Amino acid sequence: MTNEMILDALKNVTYPGFTKDIVTFGFVKDVQIDGDKVSIVVDITSSAPEVKAQITDESTVELKKLGFLAVDVEIKAPQAPKQMSNSVSGKNIAPHVKNFVMVSSGKGGVGKSTTSVNIAIAMAMQGKKVGILDADIYGPNIPRMMGLNNVKPEIQGNKVQPLQAYGVEMMSMGSLMEDGQSLIWRGSMIMKAIEQFLRDILWSELDVLVIDMPPGTGDAQLSLAQSVPVTAGIVVTTPQQVSLDDSKRSLDMFEKLHIPIAGVVENMSGFICPSCETESDIFGMGTSKEVAASFNAELIAQIPIEPAIRIGGDTGKPIVFHNPDSETAKRYQTAATDLLAFIDKVNAEGGADNSAVQPTTPPGVSACSTGAGTAVAEPAPAQASGGSCGTGCGCH
Ligand SMILES: Nc1ncnc2c1ncn2[C@@H]1O[C@H](COP(=O)(O)OP(=O)(O)O)[C@@H](O)[C@H]1O
Ligand SMILES: [Mg+2]
Repeated sequence: MTNEMILDALKNVTYPGFTKDIVTFGFVKDVQIDGDKVSIVVDITSSAPEVKAQITDESTVELKKLGFLAVDVEIKAPQAPKQMSNSVSGKNIAPHVKNFVMVSSGKGGVGKSTTSVNIAIAMAMQGKKVGILDADIYGPNIPRMMGLNNVKPEIQGNKVQPLQAYGVEMMSMGSLMEDGQSLIWRGSMIMKAIEQFLRDILWSELDVLVIDMPPGTGDAQLSLAQSVPVTAGIVVTTPQQVSLDDSKRSLDMFEKLHIPIAGVVENMSGFICPSCETESDIFGMGTSKEVAASFNAELIAQIPIEPAIRIGGDTGKPIVFHNPDSETAKRYQTAATDLLAFIDKVNAEGGADNSAVQPTTPPGVSACSTGAGTAVAEPAPAQASGGSCGTGCGCH
């Protein structure tokens, strides 16, 4: 028995979907004969499992016809392509952004914006192309925290160029309106604003857009989840029980919106005394761990109360950039690394998909007017969305 005889036999195996056989295509790479055993290696160009199965079966039949008792067919095939988050089904009104991270909290004042800014800058320092969208329409603090307080964006036609600081693109309602102007928004207006922030801001091809949400679980959160596939959700909480109670609602909302939970950031976790460098426990430390675990999520950072963090926020000099050797900056960097690893994992597993949270009403019909809800259980109305359509119904 010679290799030529084997190849002749394998010429009877056509490549599935083609008229040519696997030998003529040059796919048979190796033939080893050992007594009544034969093994072959076939290197194909398709990752489809049915192609692999058909070639294995037909080759085995042909080689057994030659009298071999044991036939080993090894098929080498390319890896199935990994789906990135942008290519999944569902809706994405900002397809040039690869990943969206929603930063939420149950309450205001727990450090959501501080966390968003420092983690966004940390990811940029790690070489990623990052943007930060201040979607806290009622309390837009990101411009101050990024040192962009009085900077007005450039308008190009009906689009807006994002501002830039610390290697991060930024846009905020605070940059678009006059200083201190107060806002009374209805739910439907919030939803429209979120859409415009995604559609009408000239974001670059970002690896990650971090979105600092208003506190609570309401119209803004639902609108964001329906507009783009959110790759990762982060909940910021302080360690007191009253904050943790609200954080559970945020975590529950992520689950209902099918947003993969990257983890919980426990902020104001202990106090580092600047004069004595010791750490004291003020609000309780580590209490968030259990809450995170109950949602199968990680505690991705514990950030102490530290005057330098507040000063960094007030003066537009974020600690992660201006004091990179501090323990706190290192914790933000670790959280950023973990977040990026989580995003990679979500994408490797098929990416985020928001098709299950789309409004169920036909196009052009307001979900509000029909009284129909979304496919998900409704999150509680936003704390401050006075006069909203109030149902989280996806009306425009
Ligand atoms: N770990 C911290 N240590 C000291 N001050 C902090 C810390 N986290 C936040 N702050 C300060 O607390 C205030 C509220 O934080 P902020 O990020 O605006 O909260 P939120 O966005 O949740 O409303 C800000 O003045 C901020 O600088
Ligand atoms: Mg804030």
